Amino acid sequence: MKVRKEASGIKESATLAINQSALRLRKNGATIYHYGFGQSPFPVPMSLQRGLAENAWRKNYLPGTGLPELQEAIAEYYRKNFGLDFKKEQILIGPGSKELLFDLLFVLEGTLILPAPSWVSYEPQAILLNKPIYSCPCRYEHAYKLQPEDLAKAAASISGQKLLLLNSPSNPTGQTYSASELEALAKVITHYDITVLSDEIYAELFWGEGMGAKDRAPSIFNFAPDNTVVTSGLSKAYSAGGYRLGFCHLPTRNLLKPMTAFISETFSAVSTPTQYAALAMYTDPELAIYLSQSKKILKEALSLVHDALLASDIRALAATGGFYIYADFSLWREPLERAAGIFSSSELCQRLLDELGIAFLPGVDFGMPDESLGIRIAAVDFDGKKAFSSLERSHASPSAISLLFSPMQEGITILHTWLKAL
Ligand SMILES: Cc1ncc(COP(=O)(O)O)c(C=O)c1O
Repeated sequence: MKVRKEASGIKESATLAINQSALRLRKNGATIYHYGFGQSPFPVPMSLQRGLAENAWRKNYLPGTGLPELQEAIAEYYRKNFGLDFKKEQILIGPGSKELLFDLLFVLEGTLILPAPSWVSYEPQAILLNKPIYSCPCRYEHAYKLQPEDLAKAAASISGQKLLLLNSPSNPTGQTYSASELEALAKVITHYDITVLSDEIYAELFWGEGMGAKDRAPSIFNFAPDNTVVTSGLSKAYSAGGYRLGFCHLPTRNLLKPMTAFISETFSAVSTPTQYAALAMYTDPELAIYLSQSKKILKEALSLVHDALLASDIRALAATGGFYIYADFSLWREPLERAAGIFSSSELCQRLLDELGIAFLPGVDFGMPDESLGIRIAAVDFDGKKAFSSLERSHASPSAISLLFSPMQEGITILHTWLKAL
């Protein structure tokens, strides 16, 4: 059978593929240090689990836009907790934010401006849709964040509508845009009338300086509300990736009609019991405790892995949110090339998996040049349930849970020994 050209060049998502091979190797008895997959280690919040069980009997389809009470609960949750002025009728519920991003890219005309590095799926989605892409390289010196002058340069050179994908905190870098950085980008966004798809799936997992339990990463929506679509969902901060529920908030009602039509002709509506479960979760007053515990634990896990990287002379920035650290092996370039014949991020990842059982993802999967020797580290391969209970037992002392992260530190030590022996 003949396959359309857009589909034939696409491979399986790199994150899902590395997870499958790491798990297969583990099942066969190998010791694997698995930094390849960004899945939440924590248990699903009880209100979400209970909500799903109690609503399993519901069998009817819901409106394609979503359960109205859930749209309202999400708007209220974001308004009350994080000061984001979402309009309930402009919220759409989808089977994960990934699907909604694809649908938005389908519905919206124009060239996609993509900062590099950025999440593995944006570029393949645009390729599937035959959409022009403008890549904006971001540098270590700028914490891999898009600079307003680079955005302005991109916008000025694109004719027709311009779309921008922003993701903060970022997968793969763990970096978060500050309010003033977003304000500066917003000036360019409004000047060139750029439509922003703001992927805020990690925004509730943010622990920048002086942050409290209720703080969330700043949103570009606060600075360019008429240009910004916000997407988020249950998968990361609420540990329920497999529930497949995400949402988007549209800036204008004129996107409602085509998006609603698209939904009605594709997935119809998200599973009814899952939407009722999400309703129970978004109205659960205990959720703030769950988030604050998750953040404490993740902050500790990521900072221990970061310390281990620095002690190994691997350049990396401390994460301020999410699950990831982006590490740069350029200080090891000479011995890697000379002694190991490794010239690219993909060769590096393959060799580390084959020789040391360490699973990373190469920077090339995130839109970086392969020779730049960057890799993404997901620091979430630990027992989140145990981490919760030991945090509760030890009266909120993060160091008491550090033991759970030892295997993640050990993997980096093994890597360092290997590098030094080159
Ligand atoms: C940056 C980013 N956006 C979106 C998603 C997908 O989220 P969902 O499960 O809501 O489709 C992920 C999941 O890995 C992600 O890392």
